[in-house]
Amino acid sequence: MDSLTLTRPDDWHLHLRDGDALRAVLPHSARQFARAIVMPNLKPPVTTVAAAAAYRDRIVAALPAGMPPDRHFTPLMTLYLTDDTSPDEVRRAKDSGFVHAFKLYPAGATTNSAAGVTNLRHCWPALEAMQAIGMPLLIHGEVTDPAVDLFDRERVFIDEQLIPLRAAFTNLRIVFEHITTREAADYVTDCCGRERTLAATITAHHLLYNRNAIFQGGLRPHWYCLPVLKREPHRLALVTAATSGRPCFFLGTDSAPHARHAKESACCGAGAFTAFHAMELYAEAFERAGRLDRLEAFASFFGADFYGLPRNTERITIRRETWTIPQSLAFGDQELVPLDAGSTLHWRTAA
Ligand code: NCD
Ligand code: ZN
Repeated sequence: MDSLTLTRPDDWHLHLRDGDALRAVLPHSARQFARAIVMPNLKPPVTTVAAAAAYRDRIVAALPAGMPPDRHFTPLMTLYLTDDTSPDEVRRAKDSGFVHAFKLYPAGATTNSAAGVTNLRHCWPALEAMQAIGMPLLIHGEVTDPAVDLFDRERVFIDEQLIPLRAAFTNLRIVFEHITTREAADYVTDCCGRERTLAATITAHHLLYNRNAIFQGGLRPHWYCLPVLKREPHRLALVTAATSGRPCFFLGTDSAPHARHAKESACCGAGAFTAFHAMELYAEAFERAGRLDRLEAFASFFGADFYGLPRNTERITIRRETWTIPQSLAFGDQELVPLDAGSTLHWRTAA
């Protein structure tokens, strides 16, 4: 098979940033995806419908002028859940029509999460409203207790936070974002058949690489993201989940741009930039698993179905072609290093 035509995919977890950074990265996502769930972890975070409306306008204004007239890119906005999010804000979000979810960052879990939730108990009124009106909650599922080993924080989150949360809110629609462990894949798989309230996104980098990538011949900051890459058995479990054909697993790149100088520093920010070559990376992962036939449903159907949005009707073509990931990309007046720069890929999305 030398070419693959599929329904235009969507990215169900994307960091677009703002200003010059937004203008630099948005064209890469718009080239491949029709829609994206846009993360709200700006500085300050997007916590109100009014702020999300203004951010959405800035994204639309930053879309590349040269886009063909029949091509669209629709940002699907999210709000950042805080200890103070009111049930009224949840209802306003639903009424807006353009806010599609709330994002739960446990305070301190990752980049720009200082304003996150300190204790889920504080959010019960907001969660009750979300459950009542069918507003999805997107979860960065890692505990923040410094006593818990960094590599165990997702697994511990399932037992300590996710299971009790789902027991208390049995109808709350939840996306367990960017899962990285066998335990998360097993937990979601187990719920998948029985309930339609839980799903998970999986990044391309967690499908392709394990934690050795961070330490290959030296410390490699571009491979540092959160949740951090895990051991090989976890990667294999994620590949099995993503290529299983189960509707509870769908594409979310978690592409998170940080300027080269912020990554190549004594204290490197967490985030891997993959929007440039997202579908090419996913195609690589699905081909290696011998399941290219299941890429379309994972990338283009299951996410839309979960969010209750129509599937896209346009199509894209991905061709077999050997090419090298560039060493760096423009990022305003700075530089951005795409993940796995300098390596060879074997699929390329046609223009
Ligand atoms: C994200 C970022 O840079 O905003 N970083 C990351 O490593 N994924 C934040 C996040 O989603 O955790
Ligand atoms: Zn993210």
